[in-house]
Amino acid sequence: MLIGFMGAGKSTLGRLLADHLGTAFYDSDTLIEEATSQSIAALFTTMGEPNFRELEHHVIATVAAQRSTVLALGGGAIMHEDTQELLRSTYIIYLEIGATTAIRRIGATADRPLARSGDLQTLLETRIAIYRSVASLTLREQEGETPQSTLTRLIALLPKLYQAERT
Ligand code: S3P
Repeated sequence: MLIGFMGAGKSTLGRLLADHLGTAFYDSDTLIEEATSQSIAALFTTMGEPNFRELEHHVIATVAAQRSTVLALGGGAIMHEDTQELLRSTYIIYLEIGATTAIRRIGATADRPLARSGDLQTLLETRIAIYRSVASLTLREQEGETPQSTLTRLIALLPKLYQAERT
C-alpha cells in the first residue's frame, strides 16, 4: 500500500508499480466514490470527517484482505487508529514530500476538502510522524524526479521492503 500526503503522487506511482508487478491497482478515494456515488468533497460535507474515516477504514480493510494488490490510500487515512493498526501488519510505502511541494501541487484544488479549509503545512506536520511510524519503507521525492524514476528507485528497494518486520 502507498501512503503519503495529498499531492505526493501515490496514485501515479501506485499504477506504475501495479503494472510492473502485474497486479491490480486500487485507489481508496475512487473506491469510496464508486461505492457511495458521491464525491469525496460531498461526503466530507454530508457525513463529516470522523464518519468518512470510518467508511475509509472499511474500504481499506476490504482491499487489504485481498492479497497481491497495490492500494493508494487517501492522505488522511492514517488518522484512523484501526487503520494504523492494519497498516502495521502489511507492506507500506510512504511517499514523502515537503510542505512547499504539497502546497504548490494542491493549494488551489477545490476537490480536496481539507486543502480548502486547512493550513496544509500544519496538517502535514501533524501527520509526518504517523506516516513514518506505519511505513515499512519511506521514499522521499527527489528534486525534479519523474514518477518513472521514482518507480525505478522503488523497484531497487523492494527486497528491503519485503524484509521489513511487520506485526
Ligand atoms: C485527504 C486526502 C484526500 C482525500 C480527502 C482527505 C486528507 O486523498 O481522501 O480529501 O485528509 O489528506 P489524496 O491524498 O488522494 O488527495
